[in-house]
Amino acid sequence: MDASKKLLILIGSPRRDGNSATLATAVQHGAEEAGINVSMRLIDDYISGFLRDCRNCRLPDGECSISDRFHSLFLDDFLSADGVVFCTPVYWYGMSAQTKAFFDRTFCYYANSYPESQQVLKRMSNKRIGLVLSSEETYPGASLGIIHQLQEYSRYTYSQFVGVVRGFGNRRGEVQRDPSSPELDAQRLGREIFERKYTDYGLDTDRSTQVWST
Ligand SMILES: Cc1cc2nc3c(=O)[nH]c(=O)nc-3n(C[C@H](O)[C@H](O)[C@H](O)COP(=O)(O)O)c2cc1C
Repeated sequence: MDASKKLLILIGSPRRDGNSATLATAVQHGAEEAGINVSMRLIDDYISGFLRDCRNCRLPDGECSISDRFHSLFLDDFLSADGVVFCTPVYWYGMSAQTKAFFDRTFCYYANSYPESQQVLKRMSNKRIGLVLSSEETYPGASLGIIHQLQEYSRYTYSQFVGVVRGFGNRRGEVQRDPSSPELDAQRLGREIFERKYTDYGLDTDRSTQVWST
């Protein structure tokens, strides 16, 4: 494994010791096993508000005027990462507001009115993306909205959406008792994030008829 690869794990729950954090820690362990340079952040520590109207809100030097730590989370941690795993609870069949605010707030820095927007756009693209979900309900439909959003985000940013892990639980850390062992899946996602085979074909893609070499 190329030790220069950087993985960022973003936890979107307000619960520091919740199920998303439990699964995020498993992703971290997997990435460390693979020798990946990994860091983990709780979005709640960095974001204190929603995106506003940039036209009224932006400072004269182009910087966002919301006084929290999103600038460093996005420009230092996210843009420099080769891969990002989003770990969010399912809230109302969508991602948590913290996670959604993360995506929305990126607008402030890729909008034309930000002086370095072109570099930001370039650095937002071509990452490996993973998704880890914690929810109470087990049926597949509960997660589809979030999976769809991450798929569209990945398509839009020319990124590769390489895997989804779902863990079930409600009380803090209860996901550890999920018999489908999502911690193992999360660990594996972390280990394989840069190595996992990723394909997305079109009708005219030149390819072999077999997926795995014998
Ligand atoms: C505001 C809120 C909305 C929720 N909505 C759903 C839901 O739509 N479907 C579901 O399966 N669980 C839902 N849950 C349960 C959480 O997804 C579940 O408890 C999850 O494990 C919490 O993860 P965390 O410990 O990382 O915060 C909701 C919980 C909260 C607090």
